[in-house]
Amino acid sequence: MKATAIAPANIAFVKYWGRTDDTLVLPSNASISMNLSACTTTTTVEFNEAFKEDEVFINFDAQDFSRIQGIKMQKVVEQLDRIRALKKVQIKAKVYSKNSFPAGNGMASSASGFAALTLAGISALDIHLDEKDLSILTRKSGSGSACRSIPDGFVEWIDGDDATSYARSLYDHDWWDLMDIVVVFDSSTKQVSSIDGHKLAWSSPLYKARLEQVPITIHNVRDALRTKDLTKLGKAIEAEALSMHAVMMTSNPPLLYWSAKTIECIKALWQWRKEGIEAYVTIDAGSNVHIICEEKEKDNLMDKLSRFSGVIKTIVNKPAIGARVVEKHLF
Ligand code: DP6
Repeated sequence: MKATAIAPANIAFVKYWGRTDDTLVLPSNASISMNLSACTTTTTVEFNEAFKEDEVFINFDAQDFSRIQGIKMQKVVEQLDRIRALKKVQIKAKVYSKNSFPAGNGMASSASGFAALTLAGISALDIHLDEKDLSILTRKSGSGSACRSIPDGFVEWIDGDDATSYARSLYDHDWWDLMDIVVVFDSSTKQVSSIDGHKLAWSSPLYKARLEQVPITIHNVRDALRTKDLTKLGKAIEAEALSMHAVMMTSNPPLLYWSAKTIECIKALWQWRKEGIEAYVTIDAGSNVHIICEEKEKDNLMDKLSRFSGVIKTIVNKPAIGARVVEKHLF
C-alpha cells in the first residue's frame, strides 16, 4: 500500500485570494494558472497496519529529511483522514516529501505538496477518482490552489459550491512556449500564511471592487491564452497581481509580502520592456517575482538578471503536465 506522485507548483495568472467557505475551501473568485516544470514536489505515501501513528518527513532545500509537526502536520493528517474516509479505513501512514525548490515563500510549495500528497495517498489505497473529483479532494486540503496542480498545463479553477468548484485544463502544456522565470530574493518562510491572508481579504475596502473586476480579467486571460497574445496576457496579469497585492496592503491588519527588491525588480522589468524585451511580472504571496515571457526572450532576460543585485537564484519554468503517479519511491 505504497505509491509515489509528482506534482508541479503553479503560478496564478488570475489569483485566488479570499474564500466564501473556509472549511470547504471555496474561493471567492475563479482563478487561472500555469503549471511549473522546474518547481515540483515528489511525495511517497505508505499506509501500513503496523504503523502506530502518521509520520511526515520533508526535505527542505536539499537538506536531510526532517519530521514536520504543528499546523503543517495537522493539515497533512486532515488530508490523509479525507483519503482514508473514502476507503473507510483507519490505517496510519508514513509520508516522505521532497521539493525541487525553496518551500514556504510564496512559490506555492504547498500547492505542489498537497497535489502530490493527495494523488499518492489515493493511489496507495487503490482509490480511483477522475480528474474532477481528484481536484475537488485536493482543493479541500486547505491549500486551495493545489487543485490547479492536478490538471495539465494551463488550468482554470472554477468558483462554485462543493460539487462544482474544481480545476480543469484549458490548454495542455504544449499549447504555448510561455516561460516563468522565478526571481528568488528570499527563500525563508513567509510571515503570514495564505490561509490567514485569505481571511483578511474581506477587511480591505478594495476587495469588493477586485471581485467585480476578476470575471473580466478571467475572460481576457482565457482569450489571450486562446489566441496566444502575450501583450494581452501580460497586461491583464500584471494588473491582476497588483490588484491582489493592493487588497493585501489595505487589509486590516495590512499584509505586505514585498521587499525592496520586489519593487526594484518590477521597475527594472518595466524599463527592460521599454527597451524592447516583452516580459511581464506577477507575484504570489511572497517577495519573489515571476517573470512571464516567451522562450525567445529567455537569454536576454537571464543576461539582465545576472547583473541584478540581490538575486539568490532564478528558476526557469516551462508549462508542465499536472500531477502524476511515478514508479520510483522516496523510501
Ligand atoms: C497568492 O491558500 O492555495 O498564491 O497554501 O500557500 O499554497 P498556499 O496558498 P493558497 O493560496 C494561494 C494564494 C496565491 C494566489 C494563487 O495561487 O491563486
